[in-house]
Amino acid sequence: MDKMIIRGGKPLRGTVSVSGSKNTALPILIAALLTDEPVRVLNVPRLRDVTTTLGLLTDLGAEARWTGDNEVEVCAKKISSHVAPYELVKTMRASFLVLGPLLAREGKARVSTPGGCAIGARPVNLHISGMRALGAKIQLRNGYVEAHARRLSGGRIWLDNPSVGATENIMMAAARARGATQIENAAREPEIIDLAAMLTAMGAKIAGAGTHVIEIEGVDRLHGVEHEVVPDRIEAGSLMVAAAITGGDVMIRNAPLAHLEAVTAKLAEAGVEITSDNGAVRVRRTGKLKPVELRTLPYPGFPTDLQAQMMALLTQASGTSVITETIFENRFMHAPELIRMGGDILMKGATAVVRGPTKLQGAPVMATDLRASMSLILAGLAAERVTEIGRVYHLDRGYEALDAKLSALGARIERVEDSR
Ligand code: UD1
Repeated sequence: MDKMIIRGGKPLRGTVSVSGSKNTALPILIAALLTDEPVRVLNVPRLRDVTTTLGLLTDLGAEARWTGDNEVEVCAKKISSHVAPYELVKTMRASFLVLGPLLAREGKARVSTPGGCAIGARPVNLHISGMRALGAKIQLRNGYVEAHARRLSGGRIWLDNPSVGATENIMMAAARARGATQIENAAREPEIIDLAAMLTAMGAKIAGAGTHVIEIEGVDRLHGVEHEVVPDRIEAGSLMVAAAITGGDVMIRNAPLAHLEAVTAKLAEAGVEITSDNGAVRVRRTGKLKPVELRTLPYPGFPTDLQAQMMALLTQASGTSVITETIFENRFMHAPELIRMGGDILMKGATAVVRGPTKLQGAPVMATDLRASMSLILAGLAAERVTEIGRVYHLDRGYEALDAKLSALGARIERVEDSR
């Protein structure tokens, strides 16, 4: 198992490019199950979660392979299995998204429930009630969702909360159901808009993606397509924080600024200078950081996937910041590690009070999830002396070539094999 070793204290400078979005690429690749024609996907990040998805598609009988550096082709001419096993779903929750496409195409699916994870319980009840509303018969047996439907038929679905995954699963299933479906209180994330664009290019009839109500008129067949994945807004936001926390000056190419309004607004409030410059975004910090209050919310609110990174940054702000996490119930796992590095953070329920500025000191630290790992990398970049971050596989799930990108900006970061 690898670990990252960072010698902090160096302001980052230079230019970096944002890779394709992980959270967009996964459902897009899975949507290829909806057609028997080839689907070519461009700007796919080389990530562990993508490799896992290609493995899952292959297990289901599709041909799925890299055809270029960031290019994948999937052809689900035939589907030979309708099972997504526990071993796979537990390592990557997004595997649960095969439920909708398998039901729509094959009329049956057996998909393991993911169980909880480090950041919370994360149930799948909304996915299941969505499929039931489309006419599927569903049983829960031995930890698996067993679903059948001769042919799905359109229905009206009101989501108790605007779940990204449930909206995607239902959208994919409804694209090939008989008749009209309406998803109310749908998620509005950019990932939903990109998936809808891909499905529409495949021949689906979808209106309202990006609003609270998505309407889908089912069609009999979907065809092959070539689709380019949008840049990763969470990677872009993480790189912005990297520039800010080190007092650096970084040009970020391919940053999807339109998807980052809540983030750039909070960074600006904290005193970070963000300007658009020739198609890139320039992020600089010259003065002191100011404290902010922030609350994670469904899009277009502040993303939960950038909360941990902001917490690292706010340890360096002069004054008291308040962070409230409203999406996941257990998403402050990075806080105790940041405290070990010298952060002054008090947690009470869903709120964390961060007092700063405190000097961060390098330490051996361990992360429990993807975004928490990134917050420790960021803290390490700002800390004195050496920070060792274990369990790097979390980072490899979601950040393409992170160490190479940060090194190119002048960070002293290396990946070594952890012999412990
Ligand atoms: C996606 C993202 C993840 C991000 C999250 C919230 C992917 C692959 N992952 O995860 O990075 O942090 O959106 O922006 O795109 N919920 C239910 N019942 C359900 C489904 C969800 O109660 O059936 C709850 C969850 O427990 C959570 C909230 O809804 O509290 C939001 O979850 P959801 O939007 O579904 O997140 P994911 O799609 O799993």
